[in-house]
Amino acid sequence: MYSSFVPVHLVSHPVAQDALVTLRDVQTLPGEFRRAARRISTIVVAEALRDVPTESRTVQTPLEPAEGAAVSGDVVIVPVLRAGLGMLDAALELVPTARVGHLGLKRDDTTAVASRYYAHLPEPIRDSFVLLIDPMLATGGSAVASLDLLLDAGATTVRLACIVAAPEGIAAVEARHPAVHIYTPAIDRALNARKFILPGLGDFGDRLYGTV
Ligand code: PRP
Ligand code: URA
Repeated sequence: MYSSFVPVHLVSHPVAQDALVTLRDVQTLPGEFRRAARRISTIVVAEALRDVPTESRTVQTPLEPAEGAAVSGDVVIVPVLRAGLGMLDAALELVPTARVGHLGLKRDDTTAVASRYYAHLPEPIRDSFVLLIDPMLATGGSAVASLDLLLDAGATTVRLACIVAAPEGIAAVEARHPAVHIYTPAIDRALNARKFILPGLGDFGDRLYGTV
């Protein structure tokens, strides 16, 4: 469904896969679900930041000077509400200096078409390293709408980090934004008639916040 050239990075780290099992398990309650979401997000986001710009930095240890590399430039994290908020703390733990933009998108229960109800991005973001975080890439409608908005706002370097992706969603992002790299620990089988991912984990936002 998507070409072999699509820049999809499969995050196969065993700790990420362990957290994913917890997220998929229907028995997992919101408290544990939130902890697992944070755990898996740390690993996925770290991968998505692999080519974040750095600059050399020399610091003084208690013993002598040490050379290192520090994250440089502006990093902007953009969670897609609500579910993307479940990945935000992990992302900010990794890049405490990041600025945060928020996009609110909600899929219609019947049509699964996403519509935007909120957008607040930091400015400017043209020269920023922008990381869009949304755990579920299903039809791709929410991701494509978010990426459209980020590019309209001037973003030039954008990565997408998710937790479960469907082939249909990857194909939708590839068709519209072929240069956007996608980071995910799982590419699942398909979508069902209601456009939920199979096997997936159900409605991420509802499970995160206990609104099932
Ligand atoms: C979920 C999820 C994505 C979207 C993915 O959000 O967090 O944003 O669905 O589906 P798509 O690829 O078909 O667009 P939802 O609209 O359920 O809102 P919520 O996060 O507030 O629950
Ligand atoms: N959104 C979710 O939360 N889960 C899905 O399976 C599809 C969209």
